[in-house]
Amino acid sequence: MAVLVTGGAGYIGSHTCLELIAQGYNVVAVDNFCNSQPESITRVKELAGKSFPFYEIDVRDESALDEIFKNHDTDCIIHFAGLKAVGESVKVPLMYYNNNLLSTIALCSAMKKYNVKRLIFSSSATVYNGANEMPLTEKSLTGGCTNPYGWTKFMCEQILRDTAQSEQDWSIILLRYFNPIGAHISGMIGEDPSDTPNNLMPYISQTAIGRLKCLSVYGGDYPTNDGTGVRDYIHVDDLAKGHVSAIKYSTAHTGTEVFNLGSGVGTSVLGLITAFETASGVKIPYEIAGRRPGDIAVCYASAEKAAEILNWRAEKSIAEACADTWRWQSLNPYGFKNKL
Ligand code: NAD
Ligand code: WQD
Repeated sequence: MAVLVTGGAGYIGSHTCLELIAQGYNVVAVDNFCNSQPESITRVKELAGKSFPFYEIDVRDESALDEIFKNHDTDCIIHFAGLKAVGESVKVPLMYYNNNLLSTIALCSAMKKYNVKRLIFSSSATVYNGANEMPLTEKSLTGGCTNPYGWTKFMCEQILRDTAQSEQDWSIILLRYFNPIGAHISGMIGEDPSDTPNNLMPYISQTAIGRLKCLSVYGGDYPTNDGTGVRDYIHVDDLAKGHVSAIKYSTAHTGTEVFNLGSGVGTSVLGLITAFETASGVKIPYEIAGRRPGDIAVCYASAEKAAEILNWRAEKSIAEACADTWRWQSLNPYGFKNKL
């Protein structure tokens, strides 16, 4: 039996493929490389010390999915494939709704056809309403998303809930990630944004390596300890382990269950910059700029439900995540490519 990983060449997918193999699972991965590189899969195979089937397909392509389900005895799916850039989703919303919703629908249709009813879905803290008190629990209010990307996750969650409701043998786990950072300790795989990064950590690391000149800190007047935004950063290896815990849980449970995957601890922008400077020994040039539209001051998870039910907790520190990111960035200044 195998775990089918969609978006397996991406940042979180690649680390999860590696963790699955390390824990003895058979992996089949698919990706269309719209936001990743084939080299990522090559390196996962190298790190794992074994090969696994990989298919370059678009998850929206039902006939391509047919072939995969026919060729591989699959008992569980992790669905990472999706577009994730918040700003881009505002500019090209239809592309986001098309990709993220139709891939999820095509996947579930194929699953139903081949009687594979266990799915772990990559959701996001972005589905929570901005007016909630912190920490966010799985019962906090959702919706009122500030961008189309967030709505695609909100809508996919609903599609999946309805699917699980329709037949008793579905087991669907919605994992709401907070802010994934870090890289595999080898420095061989990591986050490789195709354009100028939107997220803080890759912006910091590309500034440290000299690809970017100066980091803009979006807002220095928030009601936080140092005036900058606070987020819940979680090491991508911890996140990968969270998926394996979710798979184990799903073998014995049906219906839909939601879990936050976060550390439960908030770190400010300046706090992350300082941690990165300490880990790398590189000074990060930054300037305080205006607030970024749509941002909230503070966002962090209650990580209690995952601890109690999945027996999973984030273990790696911000310092380790910074050291691992720096190793990845300095060994691979241009990510998986040799140059820009
Ligand atoms: P990523 O872009 O690195 O990985 C996504 C992968 O999916 C990419 O390799 C891309 O090529 C592939 N893909 C996209 N659409 C596809 C399609 N139609 N068919 C086949 N492959 C397709 O992103 P990531 O950071 O690894 O995120 C993985 C998932 O987790 C995404 O669904 C994302 O929305 C979600 N998520 C990410 C974050 C984050 O901050 N990184 C936070 C919360 C949720
Ligand atoms: C973190 C903090 C910024 C960049 C986003 C998505 C969310 C999820 C994770 C997918 C904030 C500040 C950032 C910069 C900065 N992704 N910042 N300068 O906004 O918490 O969440 O990624 O699901 O949906 O919205 O993460 O890394 O963009 O920002 O000062 O150049 O860093 O204002 O306080 P965010 P981020």
